[in-house]
Parts: sequence; C-alpha cells; structure tokens
Amino acid sequence: MKNKANGRDWNPKEHYKNVAVAKEYDRIRFSSLSGRIFNYLEKRVIEICFQDLPRGTLVLDLPCGTGRLAEVLLDSGLRVHGADISAEMLEVAKERLSHHGDRLDTEIMDAFKLTGNDRQFEAALCARVLMHFPLDEQIAFLRGIASVVRKRIVINHSLNSPYQRFRRWIKKILGHPKSVNFPVTNEEIKQLLSEAGFVEIKRKRLNSLISEAVYIVAERID
Ligand SMILES: C[S@@+](CC[C@H](N)C(=O)[O-])C[C@H]1O[C@@H](n2cnc3c(N)ncnc32)[C@H](O)[C@@H]1O
Repeated sequence: MKNKANGRDWNPKEHYKNVAVAKEYDRIRFSSLSGRIFNYLEKRVIEICFQDLPRGTLVLDLPCGTGRLAEVLLDSGLRVHGADISAEMLEVAKERLSHHGDRLDTEIMDAFKLTGNDRQFEAALCARVLMHFPLDEQIAFLRGIASVVRKRIVINHSLNSPYQRFRRWIKKILGHPKSVNFPVTNEEIKQLLSEAGFVEIKRKRLNSLISEAVYIVAERID
C-alpha cells in the first residue's frame, strides 16, 4: 500500500524496516517541546484506557514500534506481546524494555495476515498506524487484530470533524507539515469497529482544541 507523505510516495509497511529510521523514531517525533507534551499526555491516556485490567493480563501491542507505549503497559503491571512488521523497530523496543524481563516478548507480525488460528490475547493496543491506510485497509488491519483478541481493543486515530478540517486548513495556510493522510469521521470509526466485531465503550481526547488525536476503548460485541 502506498500513500503520499509531503508529496512523496510513502509506504507505512516498508518505511520502518530501516535501522536508522527505527533508531531515530522517538527523537524525531517526541523530543521537541510539543512532542514531549504530546508524548506525556498520550501515555497518561493509554494508562487510563487499560487501568481496569487485572495486573498480569497479557496485552498485544500491535504495532509496538519502539516500545514507547508498551512501556506504559508494562509499568502498569500488565504483560505485553509487542508485535510489529519491522524487526528494526522491535530491536529498539527490546533494548529499551529489557529490564522488564519475561513480562515482554516480541514477534514480527503483519496485522493483515493474522487469523483466528494465531495465538489469542485478552486485549490489544493499536496506536498510530490506522490513519496511514485508507479505510478499507484500516478495516482489514483491525480485523486481523480482532481475530486474536477476546475482549478489548484500544485504538488511537485522527478525527475528521468540521472543526478539525478547519484546523487542518489553517495549518496548511501557515505552512505546517502535512497532517496524516486518512483521518476518520465518527461514522467511519463506528464502521471500522463494527466490521471488526467491536463497539466503542469509552473515548478519550488529549485536547480537542489543539489535537485531532482520539483514543477509543472498544469491546467485543457479544
Ligand atoms: C508510527 S509507528 C507507531 C508505533 C507505536 N504504536 C507508537 O505509538 O509509538 C507505526 C508502526 O506500524 C508498523 N506497521 C506498519 N504496517 C504494519 C503491519 N501491516 N503490521 C504490523 N505492523 C505494521 C510499522 O513498522 C511501525 O513500527
């Protein structure tokens, strides 16, 4: 799958399979003041989305990337299976989280290829990836994750609302870098979840005035 980033073809499945990209990922995105604030707030939100799960619950973090959010889950007493299509990103995660011992394991995995025959998990986190794919591929990605999750999936997404479209327009005029390619409307969030067999039970925002990020806690439809 290819899409455009800053006018160039960009493939989210291939881009991160690169040692330099993996090693620089956190520094490039989260070392500025706004990046540090965003990172802090996002971590607190992820902690809240999983806080009612019993300690020791095994959570699939797909994609795990460099382990940035897996760290929050591990620090909360959960166990994590960190999965990603990029071995390079997982190497950074393993190094960063080695002090958690066997409460973390990792696996190279393509979400599009998961089926119900694969190992099952109580819950999953799917952060900062869906918005890189068109809606039909987002559905396929989430269906893959849903096929291995019994109860809960937490996703993050970029909300496409009239206000956020206005914000994007202002940012474009001011020459800010291009926002993610495939934000979703509330209707599309509903469709995305229901096609994976899940329904929204709770949502969190970082700050709806200055960020389009939305965090959805969803559970399996009985
Ligand atoms: C922007 S990073 C987000 C990582 C992490 N969730 C975070 O929030 O820091 C996106 C990740 O998605 C992974 N990815 C892309 N396509 C994938 C696929 N089909 N299956 C599994 N991982 C994939 C990439 O390798 C990359 O590590």
